[in-house]
Amino acid sequence: MSDQLPYVLVLFYSRTGQTAELASQIGRGVARVTGMEARLRAVPPVSPDTEASLPAVPDSGAPYASKSDLANCAGLAIGSPTRFGNMAAPLKHFLDTTGDLWLSGTLEGKPAGAFTSTGSLHGGQETTLMTMMMPLLHHGMVVCGLPYSEKSLGETDTGGTPYGPTHWAGTGEQQPLSTHEKALCQAFGERLARLALKLAD
Ligand SMILES: Cc1cc2nc3c(=O)[nH]c(=O)nc-3n(C[C@H](O)[C@H](O)[C@H](O)COP(=O)(O)O)c2cc1C
Repeated sequence: MSDQLPYVLVLFYSRTGQTAELASQIGRGVARVTGMEARLRAVPPVSPDTEASLPAVPDSGAPYASKSDLANCAGLAIGSPTRFGNMAAPLKHFLDTTGDLWLSGTLEGKPAGAFTSTGSLHGGQETTLMTMMMPLLHHGMVVCGLPYSEKSLGETDTGGTPYGPTHWAGTGEQQPLSTHEKALCQAFGERLARLALKLAD
């Protein structure tokens, strides 16, 4: 028997750090729940040179995710910057390597959700989150968002959606996460962690 606590995997790609900020706030929310840990893991960038490979631990930021990080999670949050209204290629590339977990049903019944950061306020947060949910549904995961009982959802004038946490980073100087965006990330992490504990029963 492992003496490790069950964990919510917060799996993300971030090129300029905004999605990484969301990931760390979600991790804080997960850590509010006794008996559940947050495991933050990044995916490496993809290169036109498909032979390129990187060490498992980057110079900065979260370690790169392994397939077993994903297979053994109790819950999952996937994050990506919005790229043309959709998730970025590195995260999609990682997910596209999980056909074996799909065949074995390893992720079935586990709770999961998505988060994103955009340059412009109406630049595709919802489309990105909705399309990120498709692989989760194909894996048989129980998709979770954010309920309006989270006060920040009705009050935010930055990011934060019922489909999952978001950040409006801006197109000039990058805006830091707002108070509402942070609160919604943490609520989302906590919600995933609580669901993971319940669904594991
Ligand atoms: C190729 C490319 C496409 C992008 N597409 C969009 C987009 O469709 N909508 C938007 O609002 N921002 C878009 N952006 C901006 C990023 O989503 C935004 O800068 C994000 O906050 C970066 O997150 P990161 O710091 O985690 O990399 C795009 C950026 C790049 C490089």
